[in-house]
Amino acid sequence: MNTNNILNTYNRFDAIFTKGKGTYLYDINNEKYFDFVSGIAVNCLGHSNPKIVETIQKQSETLMHISNLYWNDKQLELANKLNKLGDLDKVFFCNSGTEANELALKIARKFGKNFSQDKNKILYMKNSFHGRTLGALSVTGQEKYQTPYKPILGGTVQCEFNNIKDFYSKFDRTVCGVIIELVQGEGGIIEIDPEFLQTIKNLCDINNALLITDDVQCGIGRLGTFFAYQKFSVTPDIITVAKGLGGGFPIGAVLVGKKASDTLKPGDHGSTFGGNPLACSVANTVIDELTSNNILTEVSKKGDYFKNKINTLIKKYDLFEKINGTGLLLGLKLNDKIASSDFVKKAFEKHFLLVGAGNNTVRLLPPLNVTYKELDKATELLEEVIKDF
Ligand SMILES: Cc1ncc(COP(=O)(O)O)c(C=O)c1O
Repeated sequence: MNTNNILNTYNRFDAIFTKGKGTYLYDINNEKYFDFVSGIAVNCLGHSNPKIVETIQKQSETLMHISNLYWNDKQLELANKLNKLGDLDKVFFCNSGTEANELALKIARKFGKNFSQDKNKILYMKNSFHGRTLGALSVTGQEKYQTPYKPILGGTVQCEFNNIKDFYSKFDRTVCGVIIELVQGEGGIIEIDPEFLQTIKNLCDINNALLITDDVQCGIGRLGTFFAYQKFSVTPDIITVAKGLGGGFPIGAVLVGKKASDTLKPGDHGSTFGGNPLACSVANTVIDELTSNNILTEVSKKGDYFKNKINTLIKKYDLFEKINGTGLLLGLKLNDKIASSDFVKKAFEKHFLLVGAGNNTVRLLPPLNVTYKELDKATELLEEVIKDF
């Protein structure tokens, strides 16, 4: 098959996948791979989950797309579910994580104008990742992503993650919003310090700024709670979600709390595909499955089980510093003897799919319905990879 027709934006592995089932993928030669990437935290119910397949089949025969000029039943059902699961007020649907963050930034900018014309500064964190569109990129604290596209969006200021003193020095009355990941995903599975989060929340509340939490990677059950903020004792003003919400079908959403839910008026924002019946019906199924089959309640237990197993490997071999993260958003931090990219390559040769992250870390992102047996298998495969170094 000719791969030259594709724009050269990814360093891809040499495999062409044609089908998947549960935690397994099969390539064009029917070779089997064990998948602990899950489309980078997307396939939360595994590949070709029967409930998702059934939903797509039924909904595609019923109604796939209408314009947002009209209401559709599946969108209303999904908004109701999301608002019940979180403590927020209203939802906007889009198609991806970066789009969700674009809207969050736009809401913060418009919200700021209620107070003064110069209240337009957005604070973001070093090492963060919020997406590839120019707005989201402008609040992504990684030089390598921003540099080729400079100048980035004005009025965006980078802060040190988990550094209260630095945050105080950058915050002033012109801040309209602060965007953060409660667990930095691409940055290397780094958790927010609860005191830092509380400080941001307090400053936002006192100064009429919006706290935006990006749940695109760490939300939809990855940490063992539906939304990431539910692990911490701070409710954001806006939450952005995507990835796992559709379990493999593209959908994103912005949840807005009462503080800012009347900021946008008709005409202020829109999306042709956002919230179409097909995408929303899949997301409804994903939520029903996650919440009604003990999948969500088991995530923390499975994460702890897996972490214990990995800690045994960490003690046994001098290749790792530690395992970061909670639930099923885990990052194996390697020491300086070995590069995470080499570890991921070796794993691929053994048909075990892993993905790297910043801070010389290998991410472990199984589907949320992974079995204990599969976690044992992953531990064995990790040990096989280790033995090759
Ligand atoms: C935390 C976070 N935000 C936003 C994005 C961008 O999402 P998308 O690729 O769906 O635009 C990602 C993607 O990895 C992410 O991890």
